[in-house]
Amino acid sequence: PPLSEILNLHDFEAIAKDVMHIKSWAYYSSAADDEITNRENHAAFHRIWFRPRILRNVTNVDWSTTILGHESKMPIYITATALGKLGHPDGELNLTRAAAKHGVIQMIPTLASCGFDEIMDAAKPGQVQFFQLYVNKDREITKRIVQHAEKRGIKGLFITVDAPQLGRREKDMRQKFDAEDPSEVSKAGSDGVDRSQGAARAISSFIDPGLDWSDIPWFQSITKMPLILKGVQCWEDAVQAYDAGLAGVVLSNHGGRQLDFARSGIEVLVEVVSKLKELRGLSFPGGTKPGQAPNGRRFELFIDGGVRRATDVLKAIALGASAVGVGRPFLYAFSSYGPEGVDHALQILNDEFEMNMRLIGARHIGEIVPEMVDASNIGLH
Ligand code: FNR
Repeated sequence: PPLSEILNLHDFEAIAKDVMHIKSWAYYSSAADDEITNRENHAAFHRIWFRPRILRNVTNVDWSTTILGHESKMPIYITATALGKLGHPDGELNLTRAAAKHGVIQMIPTLASCGFDEIMDAAKPGQVQFFQLYVNKDREITKRIVQHAEKRGIKGLFITVDAPQLGRREKDMRQKFDAEDPSEVSKAGSDGVDRSQGAARAISSFIDPGLDWSDIPWFQSITKMPLILKGVQCWEDAVQAYDAGLAGVVLSNHGGRQLDFARSGIEVLVEVVSKLKELRGLSFPGGTKPGQAPNGRRFELFIDGGVRRATDVLKAIALGASAVGVGRPFLYAFSSYGPEGVDHALQILNDEFEMNMRLIGARHIGEIVPEMVDASNIGLH
């Protein structure tokens, strides 16, 4: 169907399933084990309801915000997803260009199909980008990658901490990853690894399962970029990340691709906000304000997983998130429609923000406060 008939982000998934190569579809869509967490990610948003305000003159509404101090036209970012060329020959560049056009931030993955410098070169002057880091067993390689990213102007380093070993994505494992087919192989994959167990296994064998909290000071010693842990799943680790001096955490289960029965990011957000308030005195007023510590320090909470509607995003913002990551919908968009697909996906979100800001009675992001949602179905544990 023509793009004009694509009305929401779910639609891209249905089209992608029909038009994508089965191996690529398997890699993008798969999740761990029985894929319960993957389904829960979106379903969890269904347990939260709005408490809209009326009669507020919503002629003009503005859903722009700042993320780690950088402007973003929407309270979302394009999260890191590996192997963009499985879906389209331009791979991640589709995301870079659409991000520039819509004024949103792209998180570049370690395992991008396009070269890191190629992506940076495709960005517009001043375009803000983040980088997702998989930590190599060889720390010299990691150091080189991190310092190169910083030199090229990356504004935030998101260290993935939920993948000491790749989850079993059986849909993907059933498809043999063919090393001889250059259209499938990322640059990152060209390091002599076993490709017999699906794309995910093939590219991830360098990741260090030995990573632990004692490595954090080392990261802080090799870079001045803000450091964020991606894949935190309980308040204890969020508090530890705060205490370690990090800039924030992404409450994420890797799109359900790692530990099955991990909870959704939105559910974890509720307990993390509550405990950071109680134990460390932070406040999360919602809206544009990131977590504020009593000493003036900022600590930003992000979530990702299953975000398909602006209403999902607004719920997270109300509950204290600075911004929300979106993954698969953009992959499906460029796999089905090339660069125009990503453009259209971002336009859909933009239109949804405009309408829903009006309908909940928020003129700007600062007015999306905790009182605007009823999250009583998500209890504290
Ligand atoms: C991912 N994700 C991911 N995360 C990461 O830290 N490094 C990576 O290389 C990848 N690669 C990757 C590939 C694919 C195909 C998917 C779908 C996901 C996880 C990603 O950053 C994010 O956590 C989820 O994708 C968010 O869920 P949704 O929006 O895809 O439902």
